[in-house]
Amino acid sequence: MSTTLIQNGRIITAVDDYIADILLDDGIIKMIGLKLEVGPEVKRVDATGLLVLPGGVDPHVHLENVVGQSVTCDTFASGTRGAAFGGTTTVIDFALQTAVDGPLQAIARAQSLAESQVGVDYALHTIITRVDAQVLADMRHAQRHEGVSSFKMFMAYPGIMMADDAAIFKALRQVGADGGMVALHAENGTVIDLLIEEALAAGNTAPRYHALTRPALMEAEAVHRGIKLAELAEAPVYFVHVSSKGALKSIVEARDAGIPVFGETCPHYLLFDDSVYENEEFSVAQFVMTPPLRKAEDQQALWRALRFDDLQVIATDHCPFCMREGHLGYRQQKSRGKDDFSQIPNGAPGIETRTSSLYDLGVVQGRISLNRFVALIATTPAKLFGLFPKKGTIAVGSDADVVLFDPNEHYTVRAEHLHGNCDYTLLEGKTLQGRVKKVFLRGELIVDGDLWLGKAGGGRYVPRGNVQAF
Ligand code: URP
Ligand code: ZN
Ligand code: ZN
Repeated sequence: MSTTLIQNGRIITAVDDYIADILLDDGIIKMIGLKLEVGPEVKRVDATGLLVLPGGVDPHVHLENVVGQSVTCDTFASGTRGAAFGGTTTVIDFALQTAVDGPLQAIARAQSLAESQVGVDYALHTIITRVDAQVLADMRHAQRHEGVSSFKMFMAYPGIMMADDAAIFKALRQVGADGGMVALHAENGTVIDLLIEEALAAGNTAPRYHALTRPALMEAEAVHRGIKLAELAEAPVYFVHVSSKGALKSIVEARDAGIPVFGETCPHYLLFDDSVYENEEFSVAQFVMTPPLRKAEDQQALWRALRFDDLQVIATDHCPFCMREGHLGYRQQKSRGKDDFSQIPNGAPGIETRTSSLYDLGVVQGRISLNRFVALIATTPAKLFGLFPKKGTIAVGSDADVVLFDPNEHYTVRAEHLHGNCDYTLLEGKTLQGRVKKVFLRGELIVDGDLWLGKAGGGRYVPRGNVQAF
């Protein structure tokens, strides 16, 4: 294991901001101090002028995930390499329960796929699509013995992944009592399916109708319902990819009333609005993600919620599908929906651009503080999902997951320069301020400028503990 002294960097945590040296040894942060003295054998890295950030924790990624009829185009290898270049050293992926198996088989399957491939550390949520006594027992086992303390459930996609309200309530009641958390994808799935059916029957098949058939009101309705179910179950609840002002209204009200409701939004909801859907072209398919992009007023509400802690996390919902048929051998990805928007696999890439885009949009443009930035991308996701203080902060004893970040460098994002498998980025041609320069994973340098020094299988599974945020 390497020993490295990072000298003279500006250390930013969710609460601190100071200049010091950090000694990485044995995979952990061994010492933090002014002008640390070490032997000549210790590697030194001069971080003068750089921010020293905890490795990012991205709690919402889909690597090699089956979504509908397609599989996301990033493998655990390519996706975690992209994550590393973007300053993320821990991802939480999903283990999907299928119609014929349960949570424990899903976890084992995801681990066996990930193990030899991951370039950063990873953990798992389980997606629960069916709840019965055996599934509940498996969930309890997963929480106690497999380090899986959060379970995602869908209020959308009837017949594919949707769980009904009673199933969600049962899961909330048990998981909450056991110290874990249910994460909800909140959209009213049956009404949305009706709107999709009507749009197609009217001949409205272009990608833009994806957005028009998933109204913000149906997100707000589902969030409200999810909160009431959680309240009745006396359980905490986490809303993934919150996108709209209406959804936030219920979250804010619940939090003001002392109900433990948490939520994330994603960079794409802050970067773009629904004006991208104002054309009939198939290129719009790159913006076919769920929920769809919303209006400028929704963005304002999201920023407000991020500032005032009504939303606690920025996750990517990295769910990449190629636009070009045959790119790297991937077929029938976005093009599956060429003649029918409802067949376009939902999702967009973003794992590699989270840190820079949030730094630029949030910190440089004066919307959030540096401490809040770190809280949103590292510390709070680590706390909410039981990874703290091993992950998510810079402290003696924490894993030596450290990012050196140049707050002044500008660069232009190009898909061809990114490190995952996807053939496009939503940020193509955008110039951002702030760039990841070096990344350490448990003390090992895995990214050095443009160089990938990590290796497939160099990441580890991290079993998680209980929710820690309240
Ligand atoms: O469009 C999205 N978000 N696809 C991924 C699946 C999900 O709903 O998170
Ligand atoms: Zn979702
Ligand atoms: Zn997702």
